[in-house]
Amino acid sequence: MDIYGEIEKIGIVPVVVMDEPDDAAQLAKALSDGGVPCAEVTFRTPRAAEVIKKMTEAYPEMLVGAGTVLNVEQAKKAIAAGATFIVSPGLNPEVVTYCKEQNVVVIPGCANPTNVEEAMRLGLDVVKFFPAEQAGGLSMMKAMSAPYPGIRFMPTGGISEKNLFDYASYNKVVACGGSFMVKKDFLEKKDFFQVMELTKKAVDIMLNVKLVEIKKFDGENRIVMSANNLKRVMYHWAKRGLEFDVDSIVYQKDQIQSVVGYTLEHDVTIQFIAQ
Ligand code: 3PG
Repeated sequence: MDIYGEIEKIGIVPVVVMDEPDDAAQLAKALSDGGVPCAEVTFRTPRAAEVIKKMTEAYPEMLVGAGTVLNVEQAKKAIAAGATFIVSPGLNPEVVTYCKEQNVVVIPGCANPTNVEEAMRLGLDVVKFFPAEQAGGLSMMKAMSAPYPGIRFMPTGGISEKNLFDYASYNKVVACGGSFMVKKDFLEKKDFFQVMELTKKAVDIMLNVKLVEIKKFDGENRIVMSANNLKRVMYHWAKRGLEFDVDSIVYQKDQIQSVVGYTLEHDVTIQFIAQ
C-alpha cells in the first residue's frame, strides 16, 4: 500500500496517547466514523503496542502508526504490533535506518534545515515538522522548504481547529498531525462521540468546501463548490456517498482543477473547482 499517498488523502494524523488498550477499538471507530481512518499511537504509555494491535485487529483497513518512537526497540515492538508507519519527535538515524531496512514508512521530526539535510542523507523526502507552532509555524516551514523543493512535511505540535486550514493548504504539507481531536479528557471520560464530532469538524475545516453557485449545465442542476485540495475532497466526499466521474477530472500542472461528482440517490450533481 502507498502509505504516504493514503496519509496525504486523509490529510490529518490524530496523535493518540492512550493508557487503556480495551478502549482502542472504540477510539478507532470514532476516528474512522469521523472520516479519519488513521492514528499515530504514541509510545508515551507503556501499553502503546497493545493499543496498536487492538486497533489494527478491529479495523484492519485503518492506517495505524506509532509515534514518539525513540529507539529501535520501540520501532520493533510497534512494527510487530502492526504499525504501518513510524513517527518520532526528533531524527534518530538508527530508527530511520532500521525502518528503511524493514520497508516501513518512517517520518522523523525535523525542526531546522540541519535536521532536514540529515533526513535527506538517510534517503527520506517526507519529515515531521516538530514542534510546528513552537519552532516557527507555517512561515518557518515555508522558509525551510524553499532550499529543499523535494521535501514534504507533516507539521505537528500546536495544530488545532484554528490553524489546521492554513497548514493543510500549503502544497508541501502531506498531512497535519495533532492531538486536538483526541483530548486526554475525552479518553478519560470515554467520550468517543466527542472524538468523532471533532474529527468530522476537523475534516470540514481542512477541506474548506464553499458554495460558489447553483446553475444549469447540460440540462442538469449543478451545484458548484470550491475547495482547497480536490484530491482530498474526492477521498472524503466519496466516503460520504458521492461518486466521482473520473473522466471529468481536469488537471493543470498535475493538480486537479475541477471534478464532477454525483449521487444517484438524491439526483444531485456537484462540481468541485480548485480554490
Ligand atoms: C506529538 O507527539 O506529535 C505532539 O505532542 C502533538 O502535539 P499537539 O499535542 O500539540 O497536537
